[in-house]
Amino acid sequence: MPIACSSCDNTTGEKPSGDARPHRVTKRRECAGGGHSGDDPAMQIRAARADDVDACVAVLAELPDYFTASTHDEVRRELPVNPAWVAQDDDGVVVGFILAPRRFAHAAEITFAAVMPHRHRQGIGRELVAQSLAALASDGVAVVVVKTLDASANYEPYAATRAFWERCGFVQIDRIDPLPGWQPGNPSAIYVRAIRSSDDP
Ligand SMILES: CC(C)(COP(=O)(O)OP(=O)(O)OC[C@H]1O[C@@H](n2cnc3c(N)ncnc32)[C@H](O)[C@@H]1OP(=O)(O)O)[C@@H](O)C(=O)NCCC(=O)NCCS
Repeated sequence: MPIACSSCDNTTGEKPSGDARPHRVTKRRECAGGGHSGDDPAMQIRAARADDVDACVAVLAELPDYFTASTHDEVRRELPVNPAWVAQDDDGVVVGFILAPRRFAHAAEITFAAVMPHRHRQGIGRELVAQSLAALASDGVAVVVVKTLDASANYEPYAATRAFWERCGFVQIDRIDPLPGWQPGNPSAIYVRAIRSSDDP
């Protein structure tokens, strides 16, 4: 039952853009706001461009337990027109990305987050989250939501996914089954993180 973020029902998915300037992953820091970042000094986080679409789809294709082919089309459609960020290695290869469309004036949703399997647990996802949330906060976003597969689904691959979001400071606030747009039998876990006050100037 591949799933992933909003696209997690493996039948749908979504998009990025934004003003994230390139950042080198040079030291450990936490997801958005704190702690530890990537471990690879050559890794760069930058705003996605329209010509990153094929590379981002290639990342999804490496993760069939999480992303079905239908999500590839969604990324092709949504990435060029929404805030998104990529992690690029020293050879210029995109090894991960985040897509985070604005939902309301002060809210955004991470609809895709993915890192090439051979680069997992190297701090790349955490750094992508840190940089994307910083850029969203600068752009007035106060709350970010992520929807993933709930623990009650008993689908092992998503235990790591939920651990990742929790490590990044997201808090589960609801379980919805069925979530509109998701296939039946995929209970969704709704995670949120506040990244600034909605009345900050
Ligand atoms: C989720 C994903 C983006 C995380 O990217 P990553 O670069 O591997 O994550 P990081 O190395 O930055 O991990 C940050 C922290 O998350 C937690 N975490 C990540 N993977 C984990 C795993 N397999 N098991 C337990 N905790 C995990 C850990 O606390 C980790 O910190 P640590 O390595 O210091 O212990 C990546 O694993 C992925 O692409 N997964 C498949 C697709 C997916 O689930 N996308 C999200 C859909 S909602």
